[in-house]
Amino acid sequence: MKNLKKVGKYLQHKDYKTMENAVLEQKAPVHVSVMTNEVLDNLITRRDGLYVDATLGLGGHTKSILDITNNQSKVIGLDVDQEAIDIAQNNLSKYNSNVVFRNSNFSEIDRVLLDLEIGEVDGIVADLGMSSYQLDSSERGFSFSRDEKLDMRMDSRLRFTAYDLVNEMSVDEISKVLKVYGEERWSRRIAKRIIQTRSEKPISTSAELATVVYQAVPKKFHPAKTHPATKTFQAFRIAVNHELDCIEEFITKAIPFLKSGGRLVIISFHSLEDRIVKTQFQHFSSPCICPPDLPMCGCGKRSEIKILTRSPLSPSEAEVLNNPRSRSAKMRVGEKI
Ligand SMILES: C[S@@+](CC[C@H](N)C(=O)[O-])C[C@H]1O[C@@H](n2cnc3c(N)ncnc32)[C@H](O)[C@@H]1O
Repeated sequence: MKNLKKVGKYLQHKDYKTMENAVLEQKAPVHVSVMTNEVLDNLITRRDGLYVDATLGLGGHTKSILDITNNQSKVIGLDVDQEAIDIAQNNLSKYNSNVVFRNSNFSEIDRVLLDLEIGEVDGIVADLGMSSYQLDSSERGFSFSRDEKLDMRMDSRLRFTAYDLVNEMSVDEISKVLKVYGEERWSRRIAKRIIQTRSEKPISTSAELATVVYQAVPKKFHPAKTHPATKTFQAFRIAVNHELDCIEEFITKAIPFLKSGGRLVIISFHSLEDRIVKTQFQHFSSPCICPPDLPMCGCGKRSEIKILTRSPLSPSEAEVLNNPRSRSAKMRVGEKI
């Protein structure tokens, strides 16, 4: 109870209050879609087009795509989370003949499209990370402000949960996960504290993990506006779900399926994701990867996309005010040549 009180104070944080209230008031799974106008502006090239929503979530972006296009348009909606798909199916029941649902990782977009005998699509959108529903209501231990079983899998078919990683990895492995995926300055201290705590009893809930981190980070370095465990939770979530590897694979596999002029729209929420998107976009837009001192091109590589966003787009001030969770969103858009 004492431990829960410690993390409980972060529930008072403004953003949480807004979303908590939304969840409580509506009593239905909620996720407020991010940068919807920008998604539509950049993704839709045809009113009767075929689009892929690679991160269907609760179906918000898909619904907007179907609302703005005509009844000939179609969306293939992918999500690793079967619970999210079930909710999206319900939310989109009115459009069901225009949506194909697939419980699949977007890193397997090629397999999904080939299975559906689809060779080309007009646009693909991915809104990375997790939904507010997963954070607030899925009871899988994604949030440090709740006392839930440490799971953190978006895809229940994955073998290892956050519990396995937290309780089985070595101090070096944990430290590396926190440093690389969380950019956590106190990675080693937190890792040592985790090892010490679990030697007495496994760390089995999100509140227990949050408390361990809270105690490991020196008080005077506790961030003013966020919980000291924010980066640790991000790091374990990324590790459990192999998030960064999936993004790279997704972009590589998605581009060949775009029609000429078709758009790839990706929204990321932290610098690690955005760095991958930016690097991959640069790679696929660059015409040649030969060393600059070579007299002529020997690699044969061609530009496959044109980057439409030299710097990433951000949500408007009004959107951030209305949905504080959108504040770190960054959108990059590539167009197939
Ligand atoms: C931010 S939410 C998407 C919200 C959605 N755009 C909307 O407007 O409702 C991200 C979703 O992507 C899913 N997801 C995350 N990584 C994925 C992956 N590698 N493949 C497929 N889905 C993934 C999550 O399960 C989550 O439901």
